[in-house]
Formats: sequence, structure tokens, C-alpha cells
Amino acid sequence: MSASREHFSSKLGFILAAAGSAVGIGNLVGFPVSATKNGGGAFLVVYALFVIFICLPVMMAEMAMGRSAQKDPLGAYNKLSNNSSKWRYPGFLAVLTPFMIGVFYMVITVWIFGYLVQAAMGNLDALANPSNFGQFINQTSVFYYMIGVGVLVNLILLGGVKQGIEKAAKVLMPALFVLLVALVAYVLTLDNASAGLRYYVVPDFSKVNASVLNGALSQAFFSLSLGMGILMTYASYISKKENIVGSAKMVAVTDSLVAFIAGLMVLPAIFSFNPNTNPAELSDSSVSMIFVYLPKIFLAMQQDIGYMGASIVAVVFFLLVFFAAITSLVSIIEVPTATLIEEKGVSRFKALMILAGSMGILTILCTMSFGMSEWLSTMFNYGDHDPATKKSLFDFIYDVFYDTILPLNGLMVCLFVMYRWKKVKLTEELSQGAPNYAGSFTEKYVNFSLSTFIPFILALIFINTV
Ligand code: PHE
Repeated sequence: MSASREHFSSKLGFILAAAGSAVGIGNLVGFPVSATKNGGGAFLVVYALFVIFICLPVMMAEMAMGRSAQKDPLGAYNKLSNNSSKWRYPGFLAVLTPFMIGVFYMVITVWIFGYLVQAAMGNLDALANPSNFGQFINQTSVFYYMIGVGVLVNLILLGGVKQGIEKAAKVLMPALFVLLVALVAYVLTLDNASAGLRYYVVPDFSKVNASVLNGALSQAFFSLSLGMGILMTYASYISKKENIVGSAKMVAVTDSLVAFIAGLMVLPAIFSFNPNTNPAELSDSSVSMIFVYLPKIFLAMQQDIGYMGASIVAVVFFLLVFFAAITSLVSIIEVPTATLIEEKGVSRFKALMILAGSMGILTILCTMSFGMSEWLSTMFNYGDHDPATKKSLFDFIYDVFYDTILPLNGLMVCLFVMYRWKKVKLTEELSQGAPNYAGSFTEKYVNFSLSTFIPFILALIFINTV
């Protein structure tokens, strides 16, 4: 029951915070690598089309819901449906999802923080050892790093919307951009840099098949922080005078641009390390790229710039990924935080403590599901019942929430906005601050796509993964 709801101080603050959420671990390594493996420029084109024609309408719909309701996702579904009992469930799911994905993201952010600290302490040679990662994630020191990340994220969130989230985004996003550009500038001077660029940008449409399309869409969806209640929550912190349509475009452009520029850093580095790299053999997993493959490359740079120089490159890289991860983590934890504050009437401090406890326990369990606890590491066995493919708690959360629930949440947003809240309401909300929106081509496209093929595609992806 917050009497006066806190708001971002400006449109820029909102855009930076939302872009901070969108720019995450996936942008920096996952995107460039999957582009390179899946058709280079052809993938880039497909991805851009998905962002513009599928993700942007969903993003606008989420933002419109949040701003109109001026509430957390659960409250927004309730309020905009006049407390329909059916629509409570998508509301719950829109809060449970960020809670669970937040846990999974926290685990990775903790490792990044650990690698950042280790690289800064001059231990790059140890990090570059292929067996290091497996040992690192099973040492008790990960729990110290977890405390570090937990304290930092909570301090930001404790500051609230303006003094916490917005301030952090205003510092971290420009810093991230500077670090990224600095790395790109250095990496482009390396031998064979252009070989990597060629794979990244030259289109090969023969590689684009159904599974590449599916992967590109899931990636775009996740990268734009859709289906997680985040944009709904952040948009509930802006006023009616702001232009949502324009802001959504800015967020999408920033996110995609950072992902694209990251490729100008990652690919030249990989190919200068080994000009004969076969792109098809690069790992699909961002985790193994970040923690196993890239440290080796950084260490190899010592031939040119010495051990100290190579360590600096590694520190800059991990700092970059860390900043990207922190702003995403903050955004995802803000969703259940806002829900507890508004639906349960607790203070921000108390909400954060409840989440630190509950998410903290799950994060610890997930962290232990990489071998520390045999049981947690092999507790799930779905699909084939081959014991060798048993899944850990971490895998389970990833599979269920990333692969399956995200498209479901997106589907719910489309159905809710179009068939329960209705087109006129959406147009009315999006026109606030964007007077030319009503009657525009964009309006027609958004209404048409959200009521027809976008929910259809999301439903297909959902059914496909169940
Ligand atoms: N866009 C984010 C990313 O690419 C997605 C995300 C946001 C994930 C918030 C977790 C938390 O990393």
C-alpha cells in the first residue's frame, strides 16, 4: 500500500535501467558465439528481424501493463483484469519466474565475481588452466564471493528506484560501454583479428534452419528481459508523460548494439589465439566460454603485452561481464521485491531480507549442485532415464524456467493484453507520451501481431519444450 509510488527521475533513467537489465551475460559472449556458429551475418539479420517484429511488440505490451497499473506484475494482472481469479495465475508466474531465474543468474554472477577477484590478484595463469573452473566452483570460497555479490545487490536495491536502481544504472552502463569499446579497440589490433570478423559478419544463409531460428528467437526474448515481469515492474515506475514506444525502441537498440559490439571483441580474440578455429566447434555454453576458453586466450596475450598486460585485459573483461550481470540481477530481484512491498505491505528492507533468505538458500543449493552435493547434482532424471544424463538442480531450474516458462509468460502477456485488457486500452496507454501512436502503422502492426502470430509462435515454442 505505497501511498506515493517512487518513480525514475527521468526517461533516461528508465531507459538506462531497462537497458541495464537487458544487457546481460548472454549479450557479451553467448550472442557473438551463436551468431558465428549459425550463419554469421545471416544470423544477425534474423535476430534483428525477431527483435523488431516479435520482441518489440511484446516489450511494449509488458511496459504498457506495468505503467497503466502502476503496480508489480501480480498486482498489474489483478488490477487490469478487475481481480479476475483466472488471471492471478499468470501474475504469480510473472513473479515466480524472476525469483527462480534470479537464483540461476546469481550463481553465475558469483563465479564471475570470483574470476574478477582472482584475475585482479594476478592469478590469471591459474584461471587459464582448463581444470581450474571445475575446482573453483566446488571450493568453499564461492560462498564468500556469494556474500560479496549478495551484499552489493542488496545495497543497490535498498536504495530504491531513484537512489538505487537508477543511480547504479547511470554509473554502470556508461562504464560498461567504455570497457567494451576499450577491449574492442585493443582486440582489433591483434593478428588475425579480421579472420574472426569474417565468420561473424559474412552471411551464410545455408546454416539457418528451424532450430537456429528457434534458438535465435529464444535468445532475443531472454536478452530483452521479456517474460520475466521486469519491464512491467520498471515501467510501473514511470509517469504517464513518458513515451513507452520510443523507450522500448531505445532499450532494444541498446541491447542489440551491445551484443553486436561484443562480437567485435570476442571473435577477433578467439581467432587471433588460433586462426584455424573451427566456428562449429566453439562451445554453445556461455559458461564454458567465459570460464574456460577465454581465460586461456587472455593468458596467451602475455606474449605481446606481458603477464601484467594480459591480466589487465582479463580484469577489464570480467569487470565488464560483472557490471552487465549486476544490473540484470538488480532488475530481476526488484520484481519479487516490488511484489512483496505492494501485495504484502512490507517495507523494502523487510522484502529484501525475505528474498535474501529464500533466494539465498536456493542459490546455495544450486551452487552445491555442481558436485559438492552428489544428491543435488543428480536429482532430476527426465526425458530418457539414462543415469548418465541426470540433471542437477541448476539444470532443472534453467530448463524449466528459461526454456519453458519464459515463452509461456510471453504468451500470457499477449493473450491478456489483447483479449482481456483489449486493444483500445493498449493503444490508449501507448499513446500517452506518444501522441502520434494512435492510427500509426506501428499501432496497427502491434495490435495485429500481438493478437495473431506472436502468441501462436510463443505457444509453439512452449509446446515444443514441454
Ligand atoms: N537480458 C538479460 C541477459 O541477457 C536477461 C536477464 C535479465 C537475466 C535479468 C537475468 C536477470 O542476461
